[in-house]
Amino acid sequence: MSVKVKKIGVMCSGGDSPGMNACIRAVVRTSLYYGYEVFGIMRGYAGLIEDDIVKMESRSVANIIQRGGTILKTARCKDFLTKKGRKIAYDNLSKRGINGLVVIGGDGSFRGADAFSSEHDIACIGLPGTIDKDIAGTDFTIGFDTAVNTAVSAIDKIRDTADSHDRLFIIEVMGRDSGYIALHSGIATGAENILIPEKKTSIDEIIDSLQEKERRKKLVNLIVVAEGDEYGGAIGLEKHINERMPQMEVRVCILGHIQRGGTPTCLDRLIASRMGYQAVECLKDGLHNVFVGIQNNSICLTPLKDAGKKKQHISDEWMKIVKILAT
Ligand code: F6P
Repeated sequence: MSVKVKKIGVMCSGGDSPGMNACIRAVVRTSLYYGYEVFGIMRGYAGLIEDDIVKMESRSVANIIQRGGTILKTARCKDFLTKKGRKIAYDNLSKRGINGLVVIGGDGSFRGADAFSSEHDIACIGLPGTIDKDIAGTDFTIGFDTAVNTAVSAIDKIRDTADSHDRLFIIEVMGRDSGYIALHSGIATGAENILIPEKKTSIDEIIDSLQEKERRKKLVNLIVVAEGDEYGGAIGLEKHINERMPQMEVRVCILGHIQRGGTPTCLDRLIASRMGYQAVECLKDGLHNVFVGIQNNSICLTPLKDAGKKKQHISDEWMKIVKILAT
């Protein structure tokens, strides 16, 4: 199906991520540059179904590039999983003549966009907006860099107090099924162990390494664990360690949603601006039903239907680096 795009809608979907505003700004201003009318869809697919759609002008996106969150708000919407919901959404767009849609979100949002465009004459472009960095086909997702930097500055602070008290801290970071936030923030803060869903770590291995450090009187240890890890995050891991090493003074810190907020880093603003611009270029050139990624500093497009089929790969060498550097 080929769609000649007349008017463009932009929305965020799923969990918010820092840099979404910079991306909205880029979509709006690039659309206007090429003479398209552009509309903001509030609260993701929910706003599409509930007809919560506003016209955007250049000034609508002034003074937002530096702000976390999303001015369009976001949501996870069950009704859009149904054909009926998608038909209502289509009617709301078509009565305004909108037939190009830019969806900033994760792979679940891309699957929604794919279903939408296969049933209706809507050209969709996905832009990877998630702190989780769990989308294969791009080296970057909007918000990951900010989330990792937030985690790093929090873990640095925890190390100060861990060091003063000679304590073991288990710090849980977000990422759903992805270990990227844990891996990057753990390496950058010199964590002694990093536990991620992509790599199995036996509890014996963790206990051995803690006991070996105890023998060497190295009592300050930071373990960074991804929320999706097999031991059930920080609380689950603490239980295992307490059972095997009851003498050890353990503290747990779950960083939680602070990782989703805050001022986007320069990198997130840059990739958000580049991807937002590229989405409109794609719609203008008749390329659609793809998501935009950046690989090796080049733009690369992946069909929306393939979103989520592959996972980001984490090489074994990273785990070797963690082990060597944490001695
Ligand atoms: O996908 C982003 C993310 O922050 C995940 O890292 C986390 O598992 C999830 O969203 C939390 O979702 P919610 O904000 O709905 O609790």
